[in-house]
Amino acid sequence: MTLSDAPAKMQNKNALIDNFQRVHTYLRISVTDRCNLRCAYCMPAEGIVYRQKKELLTFEEIERVASIMVRLGVTKIRLTGGEPMVRRDIEKLVYKLAGIEGLKTLAMTTNATLLGEKAGVLKKNGIKALNISLDTLRRERFLQVTRRDQFDQVWQGIQSALAQDFEELKLNSVVMSGFNDDELLDFAEFAFNNKINVRFIEFMPFKDNEWNIEKVVTYKEMIATLESCYKLTPISADPSAVGKDFSLADKNGKPGKGTVSFITSMSDSFCSTCNRLRITADGSVKSCLFYPAEINLRDRMRDGATDAEVEEMIRYSLSLKPEAHAPAEELSQSENRTMIEIGG
Ligand SMILES: C[S@@+](CC[C@H](N)C(=O)[O-])C[C@H]1O[C@@H](n2cnc3c(N)ncnc32)[C@H](O)[C@@H]1O
Repeated sequence: MTLSDAPAKMQNKNALIDNFQRVHTYLRISVTDRCNLRCAYCMPAEGIVYRQKKELLTFEEIERVASIMVRLGVTKIRLTGGEPMVRRDIEKLVYKLAGIEGLKTLAMTTNATLLGEKAGVLKKNGIKALNISLDTLRRERFLQVTRRDQFDQVWQGIQSALAQDFEELKLNSVVMSGFNDDELLDFAEFAFNNKINVRFIEFMPFKDNEWNIEKVVTYKEMIATLESCYKLTPISADPSAVGKDFSLADKNGKPGKGTVSFITSMSDSFCSTCNRLRITADGSVKSCLFYPAEINLRDRMRDGATDAEVEEMIRYSLSLKPEAHAPAEELSQSENRTMIEIGG
């Protein structure tokens, strides 16, 4: 949403507004740069230097930054990583953040390896929206892409999440030509049979992630494949939503239980309505996933910065946010951290 679209009552005078009048209401917090999978499109097999524990924001620091952001108009926070569930006692952080007055939605993105045992406590402690990442429904491919043999644990995690009936449950699948583009209909069938939103994500370039333009399957190509078996009907959505959302019906007109979406960052980017800010696990604000500038809050907070000074740094980061990210091929050449280091 941009400032001019916002109804007057929604305009917080302290709102986080950038130079292009975009109002920022959504914060993604990476709680760790570590992961128990090694997805090839997210991180190189070797060579990542993980942050030491003391370099990560503590739970108290995360809570402080989150509270400041909520006072500045953030209404949705997503915990991500790395894998957020490998951070010890993550459910305690969830409980603390869910209690911040003014926060409407606390969400998490997870690979679901540890969800089987934790789905219940996460929901109880305040996670309303859960995104699970799974790129293939085939065990041997899962091992190939994640370099870990954990398909069964993930599947169990997904079943636990379905049983918990979260307010919002999504399955993220990065579609890569020659790897899993032959599974689009299998994922659509999963969405048809379950109360879940399956989101097909266009493959994005990050440092050392084996990206090339030939591997990108555009959302238009994906829609053409799905339409061979299903009728897709657009669902109108929040203008700042990153997905293009569709309901599904089979050839007999029977409606599906779930929905499908396409995250079109490569073929049709949504920068003009971007409402997101990120905090990396080591405590930097990043105003754009693809813009390398990071403003480190951690050291200033540890040196005694006041809330007003932290706010000033957040606003400075926002003032650097570009109007739009560069085209895909240019991005693949630019200097940025890996996805796992930034926090997805
Ligand atoms: C980096 S992961 C972090 C959270 C958690 N470990 C998980 O697996 O969901 C967050 C999301 O980023 C997506 N992602 C990572 N690298 C990507 C890429 N190159 N292109 C598109 N999406 C990517 C993943 O598929 C996942 O859904």
